[in-house]
Amino acid sequence: MAARFDVQGADGAHLWHPYTQHGLAPDSVVIDRAEGAYLYDAAGKPIFDAVSSWWVTLHGHAHPAIARAIAEQASRLEQVIFAGFTHEPAARLASELVRIAPAGLTRVFLSDDGSTSVEVAVKMALQYWRNAGDSRSRVVALEHAYHGDTFGAMSVSARSVFNSAFANELFDVVRLPDPSEGDAARAFADVLDKRGNEIAAIIVEPMLLGAGGMRMWSAAVLRALRMLAAERGVLFIADEVLTGFGRTSPLFACEHAGVSPDILCLSKGLTGGFLPLGATMTTAAVFERFRSANRTHTLFHGHSYTANPLACAAATASIGLLDDECAAARRRIGESHEAAAARFAHHARVRNARVLGTVLAFEIDEAGDYLHPAASGLHAFALERGVLLRPLGNTVYVLPPYCASRDDLERAYSVIAEFLDAR
Ligand SMILES: Cc1ncc(COP(=O)(O)O)c(C=O)c1O
Repeated sequence: MAARFDVQGADGAHLWHPYTQHGLAPDSVVIDRAEGAYLYDAAGKPIFDAVSSWWVTLHGHAHPAIARAIAEQASRLEQVIFAGFTHEPAARLASELVRIAPAGLTRVFLSDDGSTSVEVAVKMALQYWRNAGDSRSRVVALEHAYHGDTFGAMSVSARSVFNSAFANELFDVVRLPDPSEGDAARAFADVLDKRGNEIAAIIVEPMLLGAGGMRMWSAAVLRALRMLAAERGVLFIADEVLTGFGRTSPLFACEHAGVSPDILCLSKGLTGGFLPLGATMTTAAVFERFRSANRTHTLFHGHSYTANPLACAAATASIGLLDDECAAARRRIGESHEAAAARFAHHARVRNARVLGTVLAFEIDEAGDYLHPAASGLHAFALERGVLLRPLGNTVYVLPPYCASRDDLERAYSVIAEFLDAR
């Protein structure tokens, strides 16, 4: 029998993991396979994936319909340069995205992940003005925002421990208060009054500031920000990398407020969590600012794997699963979360228990940032008990795949309750 490959040994010797302090972190857990809401480690132990593997897994791991779509596509056309060429998986996906997205978004620019979808959005917005000979170039963004780890995405993200090593290299933005805490709409109105002709675009994570601490904010403020932008001709960018494809219950968080952005960023759940893919959608008005006989008006942006056919096929298959049954499953998760939030709210250590669609969150002890220690033992504590949780500082959240059962969810809630009682 061939010797088993030493995964942990090779990992420890050669791999560098994301968001990992290798001076402190224990060995990475080897995952051998996954199915539905569960990961299985090398010994076959099941682990309930209560964070949808960094918020990407929608319908469950290894969903057969998506796996089949990828396999069929792989044996037909795995990749082709997307400049000067096109293919059915990309064209179908674009048609599907236009069908389900908020009204008016009729163009789709494909890239690799959430950060690149934001880079493209910001570049589109800035060049939109430049192509018209207008010098406005300032972006407005929210306090506690997180839009990704590339330089443009870091620049529009809040300044935090995630990007403090690069603070001097980031471009300046106009910062509005986090709408879960302050009056972002009033602040935006003030900015538009005082510096309106400098402002090219505003970027927001609609309804939910994710990595900034699962901060939930109101549809009324979202609508107010969108309307102010529209009144002043400022482009409105909705980063739905996390909230897209049903995370907050409706397919897109913008639906809570009945608004359409000028530019929409998508990734994460786009392929159901199978393959990396980003999409930046926009309106005919934005697209037409770039279509011209003038070659300098081109959007000079692209990645080697733009519109990868396998990723596009996975995405179309995943969108096909976003049916009424899936909407009902999301509502059931929301109801289960609501009941759990009501229970957690009575716990002496729990602050601000809250729910938005399939996301449950609260703080342990007090408001805190990413390095707050209150929940630092929870990841290991839960993992030992077969649940994957990854608190953001002392913000604990549960964000499961839509196939999670009531029992799966109860298991996650009870591990969290046990942790709260144990300390
Ligand atoms: C709202 C939002 N935008 C952008 C990103 C960046 O996406 P990626 O990690 O795929 O680059 C994230 C990732 O968490 C996100 O939550």
